Amino acid sequence: MNEQKSFIEEIKNKPELRGLDDQIVISSIEDYKKRHKIDLQSLSQKEKKLVLKEIRAELRKLTGQYQVSQKKRLEFLEQNKIRELLETHSSTAERINFYPKLKEILSSLNVNSILDLACGLNPIALSSKEFVYYAADIQKQELELINKFFEKNNILGKVFVYDLRKIDSSLPKADICLLFKVLDIIEKKGHKLATKIIALVPCEKILVSFPTMKLSGKPMSNKRRFWIERMLNASKYNFKVIESSNEIFYLINKTLAKE
Ligand SMILES: C[S@@+](CC[C@H](N)C(=O)[O-])C[C@H]1O[C@@H](n2cnc3c(N)ncnc32)[C@H](O)[C@@H]1O
Repeated sequence: MNEQKSFIEEIKNKPELRGLDDQIVISSIEDYKKRHKIDLQSLSQKEKKLVLKEIRAELRKLTGQYQVSQKKRLEFLEQNKIRELLETHSSTAERINFYPKLKEILSSLNVNSILDLACGLNPIALSSKEFVYYAADIQKQELELINKFFEKNNILGKVFVYDLRKIDSSLPKADICLLFKVLDIIEKKGHKLATKIIALVPCEKILVSFPTMKLSGKPMSNKRRFWIERMLNASKYNFKVIESSNEIFYLINKTLAKE
């Protein structure tokens, strides 16, 4: 086995990272090597261990840590215990009482197709036979669950691995793009990437969300994200703010320019 391959396997040798697509691990290794100007072959065992630890920490921030095994999740799906399944992911669990309202919003917008980027388990809560559903994430195990759910419920669509940090023009067109709770995970400094993503997604409407609770469970004092409002105003995109008890949503319409 070559060195890069065994390093990838070593990094993924943790239950919470096992479901990651290899390509995501490779791009984190490459970014790390570039940032620190290092070559893996020239590192001592001790240095290599430190690099491994730091790359794992970065990947954990991207994926979040969920405590339930894939086997348990597949069982929930098999037994049609959808609420229990949704509760195995912190984002869908926190949103569980707001899904009826979200479904109402989608239906009032008359959308026929949805592109859900960094989807987590969200498609299991929102998809239906009314929509063609494109679901993408970097977590292969979650995509596997969604695929099985789509097959079981005859939902039309496609499930695929997609790294939002490398957004390009290959995404499928849809009536609305969902970007829930991801923009502040993939970009720690500045908003260049978020601006690029919003400009490039091939959808007229975009629904972006951000958490409004701190990790401690206390509400944030400032829930609005003024940077996105400034960016949307500068691009002359219309938007509307929708709030739930723990999340803020920006419903953007890229074709309705502001007067
Ligand atoms: C906080 S969760 C939100 C999941 C889902 N959007 C929701 O709100 O229910 C963040 C999601 O972003 C995904 N993610 C992290 N980095 C990503 C990247 N570079 N490209 C695509 N997805 C990514 C994670 O795997 C995880 O599913």
